[in-house]
Amino acid sequence: MKGVILAGGLGSRLFPLTKVTNKHLLPVYNKPMIYYPLETLVQAGIKDIMVITGGTSSGDFMRLLGNGKNFGLKHLLYTYQEGEKGIAHALALAEHFAAGDKIIVMLGDNIIEKDIKKEVDIFDRQEKGARILLKEIDKPERFGVAEIRDNKLVRIIEKPAIPPSKMIVTGIYMYDHQVFEFIKTLKPSARGELEITDVNNRYIEKGQMSFGILKGWWTDAGTFDSLLRANILVAKQRSKR
Ligand code: G1P
Repeated sequence: MKGVILAGGLGSRLFPLTKVTNKHLLPVYNKPMIYYPLETLVQAGIKDIMVITGGTSSGDFMRLLGNGKNFGLKHLLYTYQEGEKGIAHALALAEHFAAGDKIIVMLGDNIIEKDIKKEVDIFDRQEKGARILLKEIDKPERFGVAEIRDNKLVRIIEKPAIPPSKMIVTGIYMYDHQVFEFIKTLKPSARGELEITDVNNRYIEKGQMSFGILKGWWTDAGTFDSLLRANILVAKQRSKR
């Protein structure tokens, strides 16, 4: 399985912190944000990784991460997203890199406590389709929210005014090669983006989506409050060691 980290976008919710740099280069406690998803993928045994960046300071990723040696990688690939047209639009750039293999995609601003090796192993054995990781949180409105009936995932609603559950879709997605065909059929959402939630709903409609519940804490870091939360969670975890 190959790994893709999405680290583009303008980071407008963190303005002016992101006026002259990319959100994923901002510090989260003692490391730049992008280190966390990269370490998560490496810990899960992923060896081929592509970083998709864009917007401001994209060249700084190469200077920061180099060829991935410090993370135990033999090499690291990069590509550049032109424009800010959404997560699914960025992911489309990984088609050539994926070359028909399964992929695990992680959003560059998602930070988690535990390793996800078991989840990756489960998807390795899954014949086809996709797998997402859900997490129960108190205020789900800001995320993709899962509607679950009789323990079955019925659909995902992106940023619902009235959430159907407290289970949000974390930014860790596992896909087979079909993902790139689904992306080609997407239309921009109201916020002008190709939504990853629309991709996930295609898999659900085809009966090819499985899900796991993420263990340990999870946070994104794309708003002032969540960035602060991420810093505190990482700091607390380090002081426990
Ligand atoms: C994106 C996805 C959303 C998901 C979230 C996880 O939201 O669209 O479904 O729950 O990442 O971090 P965004 O950060 O683009 O608002």
